[in-house]
Amino acid sequence: MLQNKHILLIVAGGIAAYKALDLTRRLQERGAQVRGLLTKAGARFITPLSFSALTGEKVHEDLFSLSDEAEMGHIELSRAADLIVVAPATADLMAKMAAGLAGDLASTVLLATDTPVLLAPAMNVRMWTHSATQRNAAQLARDGIAFVGPEEGDMACGEFGPGRMAEPLDIVAAIENHFQNSGAGIAPLPSIDKAPGPLTGRRVLVTAGPTYEPIDPVRYLANRSSGKQGFAIARALAELGADTVLISGPVTIPDPPGVQTVRVETAAEMAQACAAALPVDAAICAAAVADWRIAKPQSEKIKKNATGAPALPLAENIDILKSLSTDKKNRPLLVVGFAAETENLETHAREKLKAKTCDWIIANDVSPGSGVMGGDNNEITLITPDTQEQWPRMTKLEIGAALAQRLADHFNANKITALPLGSKRGSSHGSN
Ligand code: CTP
Repeated sequence: MLQNKHILLIVAGGIAAYKALDLTRRLQERGAQVRGLLTKAGARFITPLSFSALTGEKVHEDLFSLSDEAEMGHIELSRAADLIVVAPATADLMAKMAAGLAGDLASTVLLATDTPVLLAPAMNVRMWTHSATQRNAAQLARDGIAFVGPEEGDMACGEFGPGRMAEPLDIVAAIENHFQNSGAGIAPLPSIDKAPGPLTGRRVLVTAGPTYEPIDPVRYLANRSSGKQGFAIARALAELGADTVLISGPVTIPDPPGVQTVRVETAAEMAQACAAALPVDAAICAAAVADWRIAKPQSEKIKKNATGAPALPLAENIDILKSLSTDKKNRPLLVVGFAAETENLETHAREKLKAKTCDWIIANDVSPGSGVMGGDNNEITLITPDTQEQWPRMTKLEIGAALAQRLADHFNANKITALPLGSKRGSSHGSN
């Protein structure tokens, strides 16, 4: 829900501009207040009249409009928004943003703001894959600008490839995800400024921690996962230069430096956040996702009464690891799962590797005497379809570092090219 969220929607000039009207409606349906800004080229694709009829407000177009400057200047325009969304974001506007130019109202607003910005790029495939645009996109990502899309598909210009604007509902999901992540909705998106390393140019998703499945507003079903191993992996990946997204259930560990950390509560929220983070080069599922949720959580606190203990029927949660491994459109190149076991470690882990169709599985003994659950040390066996390696007992930080290095070696040894930033990959292949 986007109740009381103020969104400034900047529409630049591209054929995808017509989708901005649908996006406006979808945002309004969820309770958002949308204010519109058209670039000069944007106004050639949709009229200010249709845009303002939808938003119920004046649509801003001109940097030098005296009445605008009197009523609401460009500084105020951005300040009044909780989030600025640019859809479509053209190659031209992205280039202006990356260079810090401010020659018109849109670029001035974008330069004069510290409000989080989300771009939905849309352009011809050759423009998107051109090294100039890729350089600008990488610069904007380093500056803390978030992206949704572009997607791969048939384009209005008759070509096929990455460059098509994300669908309005996917943009809405990215916006909801942003607000869910940033609580009050005014926290800036994290700026990731890392030294280059062997994973520079790779995007990796990590899940961590437990999930909480609500019973009623005050009670929940949970497990003992501390999130320490997943956080250590995410930290180590970022240190090797990876663009790292960490999706974590409720834990008390602070965000690792240089990692985009998304906090969720339930398995369903974790699954949704993972889907929104795609495409990625690799996914490492270290979360202890609850297998079940309460089928019908109560909206009021369940009271004790004479009829005795309430029955709490369960429903099965989505298996995030399996859905990533079997994703037909966006399967990460490498999918790594964990098998937390209390007995028959290797046998159960191999069964999981097969059942979940992931590429690697990390087996760890979580039996009560092992001290792994909540502790600082871990002892793992890295299992692939043809190999099995038992690692010595190490700290979770050391395991994170060794695993991140193993990922870098894997991509390097297999000469797998990095995912083009922001694009969606159609198919994938497994690993050694
Ligand atoms: N996992 C997941 N989504 C779920 C359940 C598990 O993504 N709903 C992932 C975990 O993050 C881990 C792997 O699947 O990488 C194995 O989790 P585990 O709990 O050991 O296995 P389960 O599939 O839940 O099987 P079981 O509980 O029967 O051992």
